[in-house]
Amino acid sequence: MSDRFNRLSYWIVTAPTTEFPQLAGELDVDVAIIGGGMVGITAARLLKDAGLSVAVIEARKVGQEVTGKSTAKVTSQHNLAYGKLTRTFGEDGARTYAEANEAAIRLMADLASRYGIDCDFEPRAAYTYARGEQHLEAVEREVEVTQRLGLPASFTRDPGLPFPVAGAIRFDNQAQFHPCKYLAGLAATIPGDGCHVFEQSRAIDWEPTRVVTAGGTVTSRAVIMATHLPLGQVGLFYAENYPHMHPVIAARVDPARAPDGMYISLDEPRHSVRTHRGDDGNTYLIVTGPSFKHGHVDEERQGFAEIERFAAEHFGAGAPDYRWTNEDYTPMDGAPFIGWSSSARNGYLVATGFNAWGITNGTVAGIILAALASGRDHEWASLFDASRVKPIAGAKEFAKQNLEVAKELVGGYLTTKPHSFDELAPGEAAVLKVSGENVAAFRDEQGRLHAVSAVCTHMGCLVGWNENDRTWDCPCHGSRYEISGEVIHGPTYKPLEKKAIG
Ligand SMILES: Cc1cc2nc3c(=O)[nH]c(=O)nc-3n(C[C@H](O)[C@H](O)[C@H](O)COP(=O)(O)OP(=O)(O)OC[C@H]3O[C@@H](n4cnc5c(N)ncnc54)[C@H](O)[C@@H]3O)c2cc1C
Ligand code: FES
Repeated sequence: MSDRFNRLSYWIVTAPTTEFPQLAGELDVDVAIIGGGMVGITAARLLKDAGLSVAVIEARKVGQEVTGKSTAKVTSQHNLAYGKLTRTFGEDGARTYAEANEAAIRLMADLASRYGIDCDFEPRAAYTYARGEQHLEAVEREVEVTQRLGLPASFTRDPGLPFPVAGAIRFDNQAQFHPCKYLAGLAATIPGDGCHVFEQSRAIDWEPTRVVTAGGTVTSRAVIMATHLPLGQVGLFYAENYPHMHPVIAARVDPARAPDGMYISLDEPRHSVRTHRGDDGNTYLIVTGPSFKHGHVDEERQGFAEIERFAAEHFGAGAPDYRWTNEDYTPMDGAPFIGWSSSARNGYLVATGFNAWGITNGTVAGIILAALASGRDHEWASLFDASRVKPIAGAKEFAKQNLEVAKELVGGYLTTKPHSFDELAPGEAAVLKVSGENVAAFRDEQGRLHAVSAVCTHMGCLVGWNENDRTWDCPCHGSRYEISGEVIHGPTYKPLEKKAIG
């Protein structure tokens, strides 16, 4: 495996680089959008279509955060979502979710074709499959529910995988795409007519009508916070969604052994699989595996070992060409939070809790947020209402997650070995107490030590090491940092303090 690509997502490496300017000075627009991922860029495009002026303010590069590290399936099939949604939100709620996600697939196909975006958008069937008989009943029930909701669902025992399955749910007319090519292409259509896209421009302060970066300020009538999880303390959404991290690989396979559909398993350990025909002529198998706790290296290693074994054993994949990790948030009651951050409808417009299905749900969010920011209502808005009272469903899991956050806040995950940073070999990292302070340090291949405070700037949990990506990740609410301490992912927006240690 080439070390150059080892920590980067396949999509990021193989997409054209975007070159939008940094925000400098003062600007006034109708709507300011913080974040240039699936949600932010979709909302910007739709607002521009509605004749409003927008400014997208992206901290890093468009499409290169969570969206650009996904498996990029474009589907309304979200595991066994519809049975659960029916129980929590009733059949009408589940139908709205289905219709919204099906509409998102159509909108994405339409935008790609309307703007001539070459993003490898290809029709594919989606399958949720059970290898063991113990999940068969759940599969059959989900087929029944999804058919009743009008989704293109059927039952099959032959989803085209190279191993036997007890049963699978098949959805027709779904798709897969290249997420970075799509967002780069869509973002390129935004500048002009009073609309702007800014990169390398992190929001460091905000109000409901103002966004501030180091280089400038945007004033607006509304602010969409499309940062995957709202920043800082906005709406306290970090208490209603918990983060999960996944290993992902892209490995070359013989096209004759590449499965045709997009797959996700119900059995443990869970696997999600699709293929992609690269511009280099190779066929890649993209696989994700079981979730692991942020900053827990042992679980991360097991996750990568598991998906590499799975890809080699069943599809004859070689050693991965690309390995990366990615995170998303599980919402408390099974539906994403999309809309106003407070019931008074005077705060920020937000979208979060996509539970690893934010390509279509992120498009749904773009549609709803664009409507709300233009002063219109939307027929799907009440299901996803971000300020809704959460039902009891999921409360037990949340009590457990909150207990774990409390443990991280008081204790953290201090490394027991080594005892001193002097013992770190090149490529190794540790979190240690130094003169009473918690310090996170990484030694690079040239022997230099990069030391930063290990205390997350969001709410003070201790960060842990992500060995593959070489990042410091917070187990409490999912903030991520570079080894230099620079922020990669929120809810934080402040870097880790640098520490001067030998
Ligand atoms: C392993 C994995 C696989 C997945 N696969 C799929 C899939 O196949 N299909 C599917 O539907 N979903 C999938 N998802 C989920 C999906 O990728 C996400 O839910 C979705 O991409 C989130 O989009 P977003 O716009 O909310 O976030 P992002 O793409 O992360 O966009 C948010 C943007 O905000 C920027 N930002 C953050 N803070 C600031 C700040 N202070 N100032 C300015 N900008 C800021 C970030 O840099 C980023 O670019 C997967 C998730 C995981 C973890
Ligand atoms: S992300 Fe909340 S404490 Fe770190």
